[in-house]
Amino acid sequence: MPEPKAEDTAARTTRNRHRRVSVVRVVVTGATGQVAYALLSRIASGAMFGPETEIDLRLSDIPQMIGKTKGVVMELEDAAYPLLAGITASDLRDQTHKDADWVLLVGSVPRGPGMERGDLIRTNGPIFVAEGKAIAEHASAGVRVVVVGNPCNTNCLIARHAAGDGIPADRWTALTRLDQNRARWLLAARAGVRVGDVRRLAIWGNHSATLYPDFTNATVGGKPADKTVDRDWLEREFIPAVQQRGAAVIAARGASSALSAAQAIVDHVRSLVTPTPADDWFSAAVVSDGSYGVAKDIVSSFPLSSKGDGGYAIVKGLTLDAFAKAKIDATIAELEKERDIVRDLLAA
Ligand code: LMR
Repeated sequence: MPEPKAEDTAARTTRNRHRRVSVVRVVVTGATGQVAYALLSRIASGAMFGPETEIDLRLSDIPQMIGKTKGVVMELEDAAYPLLAGITASDLRDQTHKDADWVLLVGSVPRGPGMERGDLIRTNGPIFVAEGKAIAEHASAGVRVVVVGNPCNTNCLIARHAAGDGIPADRWTALTRLDQNRARWLLAARAGVRVGDVRRLAIWGNHSATLYPDFTNATVGGKPADKTVDRDWLEREFIPAVQQRGAAVIAARGASSALSAAQAIVDHVRSLVTPTPADDWFSAAVVSDGSYGVAKDIVSSFPLSSKGDGGYAIVKGLTLDAFAKAKIDATIAELEKERDIVRDLLAA
């Protein structure tokens, strides 16, 4: 049988010119990793950008992994996704990142058992300097970036600084949606409801063991969460369970989360490209504008809403009790400490 791959991609691209749909150029770094393996099919199938948007998918990885990306490309081709307008795989960022609309920075060294995500800060930091520079140089003027590689908040800070002023602060985000999803599931299970009944459950601060899932403003079936589930459980069991869930997955699986991380990345982008319902908000780590006293410039998780245009606004005017404030202060203090550890990379 003749080798159909290149022709297939070209044929799809040609066909696509006749359809009035938009094409979004999406880079996934660490393309041969476990998270990407769970993520790429979701992007290609339309789960991230919806059924009207075609995808020009760019797989980026380090030179040693480029052989393996060929296998991933073959699988994407063999899945014959109608929305997949093109596939590129390369270790050269000038090829993968060229005119990119979204850059999903997944690639990094993952933590192993017994480690905190912050332990990776000096190992992974330099990767994000290189990514920030490449994004500034090659991506489209409207690029949006999602940092997943850990410690994702501070890696996002590093990449943004490396990119310079050309890319506005509100284009840079890091993933805390995984924590939000975990928190929603745990709270729903405790309350005996479906996850869809849990709303306004935001993550504040760092994607780390200090993160704060704010149950004080959350609702369950339209009622305040702490009137539905006992506060003692929320304070003593729920918070540590969310904070330690990533470590629990590593301990059980022998590898860090992949399926749920991929779903969280889909949800993160989907929440930015669809309008937020009035009775809900979502979490992502974004560059602080000083809201709620969070130090400006650090990348902290907040409750957000979006008009669906790819941007977001921090939800304002929330009441935070003394308990919530103390938890937020602790996670912000950790982010400030992480920033101080990478000061040399911020100046680079
Ligand atoms: C997670 O939360 O599962 C990921 O960030 C991986 C990790 O190291 O915990």
